[in-house]
Amino acid sequence: MQLGVIGVGHLAGALLGGLLRSGMAAGDIVLSPRGKGPQQAARDGHVLARDNADLVTRCDMVILSVRPGDAAGAVAGLPWRAGQIVLNACAGVPIAALDVGPATVVRIMPITAAELGASPTLVYPPEPRALDLLARLGAPVPLQGEAQFETATVSAAIYGWAQALIRGATDWSEAQGLDPETARQLVARTFVAAGRMIAEKDVPMDRLLADLVTPGGITEAGLKHLEAAGVPQAWDGACDVVRRKLSGS
Ligand SMILES: NC(=O)c1ccc[n+]([C@@H]2O[C@H](COP(=O)([O-])OP(=O)(O)OC[C@H]3O[C@@H](n4cnc5c(N)ncnc54)[C@H](OP(=O)(O)O)[C@@H]3O)[C@@H](O)[C@H]2O)c1
Repeated sequence: MQLGVIGVGHLAGALLGGLLRSGMAAGDIVLSPRGKGPQQAARDGHVLARDNADLVTRCDMVILSVRPGDAAGAVAGLPWRAGQIVLNACAGVPIAALDVGPATVVRIMPITAAELGASPTLVYPPEPRALDLLARLGAPVPLQGEAQFETATVSAAIYGWAQALIRGATDWSEAQGLDPETARQLVARTFVAAGRMIAEKDVPMDRLLADLVTPGGITEAGLKHLEAAGVPQAWDGACDVVRRKLSGS
């Protein structure tokens, strides 16, 4: 299977890192010659296409990871054929916006943790060949339609907000005198631990949380402060903003 990448930028770098890490051969991946394509091909041994038409001719599956505004133009007029799959990673770009003739568009939404094999990549529709490829980057999350896909895509923004929270808590700890690397590892691994407990324990979330919030204790004191400061409402508001942006409204 030859896999092509149109749009070799930041996200593609993480996906390529994850694919190589999973054991995929560098020579089975063809890169578009724009952006970081030439650099990345020379460094890791990928094939560099002459242009996007050459790439589409050579490949069975193509990841589209250009900026959303460039997506329709990037795929138009290329020699697409039946049986090919276009993995559209562009946020807010619906299937109908891409004219790829007889090829099939599958929407995906990976996060950069793909580089570590830890991306819960969204997929719609759940095409088996797409699922097989994405399983190399973490556990894929199939969705039932594009509206659901758009809602689930908000999580890709939450991933960034979680990193911002980790950075903030690390900066605070450092300002209080903790060693910077200790603070970074402690806060980051605390977030990983919180996520793993919810993802892996078959216990209602309310109960998991209730077990942590001792009346009069430190967790309760901090939660009360966050609630009084309007943090839960602000968080919901931020999700609403992203969801509307993804629908173009
Ligand atoms: N960054 C993330 O973590 C992330 C996560 C999930 C989804 N996404 C989605 O992934 C897409 C790319 O994001 P990014 O952050 O990786 O952007 P980026 O770093 O700007 O990369 C986009 C690349 O696409 C290239 N490009 C533009 N038009 C092209 C064309 N016609 N043919 C070939 N290459 C072309 C650009 O080259 P030039 O520099 O020459 O213009 C650039 O190298 C976006 O649609 C975004 O919604 C990103």
